[in-house]
Amino acid sequence: MITYRIGNALDLDAVIELYHASTLGERRPVDDRERMRLMLANANLVVTAWDGELLVGIARSVSDFSYATYLSDLAVRLSHQKQGIGRELIRRTQELGGQATVILLSAPKAVDYYPRIGMKSHPSAWMLAAAERLH
Ligand SMILES: CC(C)(COP(=O)(O)OP(=O)(O)OC[C@H]1O[C@@H](n2cnc3c(N)ncnc32)[C@H](O)[C@@H]1OP(=O)(O)O)[C@@H](O)C(=O)NCCC(=O)NCCS
Repeated sequence: MITYRIGNALDLDAVIELYHASTLGERRPVDDRERMRLMLANANLVVTAWDGELLVGIARSVSDFSYATYLSDLAVRLSHQKQGIGRELIRRTQELGGQATVILLSAPKAVDYYPRIGMKSHPSAWMLAAAERLH
């Protein structure tokens, strides 16, 4: 049975291990422990999935709990994928955000996932990376 918890008071090593075990670690700074620590510490809406005491899924977001929830990382352990855990993590994230819209950028591997579970793509999303400068 999978149980769900709310909050970012998590063991950082267990979280980093989950990023590896889900493959999301290929696209996140898992080797920069301090950056990962800040990502977890400053996220204000974190939902996790557990198989007993094993961390098997995470939805890590920043939310104002009113207008927008940015879902930065969604990861489910490979051994536990395709059991509805990812969908449930997003459902709970949406619910906890009140009126906020859930917004995210898909990893290449997940581009077919989000429409499948009912999310809509937005044709005018814009980004400015930390190393980029405005004109
Ligand atoms: C993407 C991810 C979070 C999905 O989690 P999950 O728990 O396996 O997904 P769910 O069980 O909720 O899947 C719901 C449905 O989507 C389907 N699905 C799952 N992964 C899919 C994918 N990558 N592409 C298309 N469909 C997918 C499932 O088969 C299921 O379909 P069904 O309802 O017809 O049975 C998980 O595969 C993962 O961690 N991937 C690696 C990391 C990653 O890419 N994260 C996204 C970052 S933006």
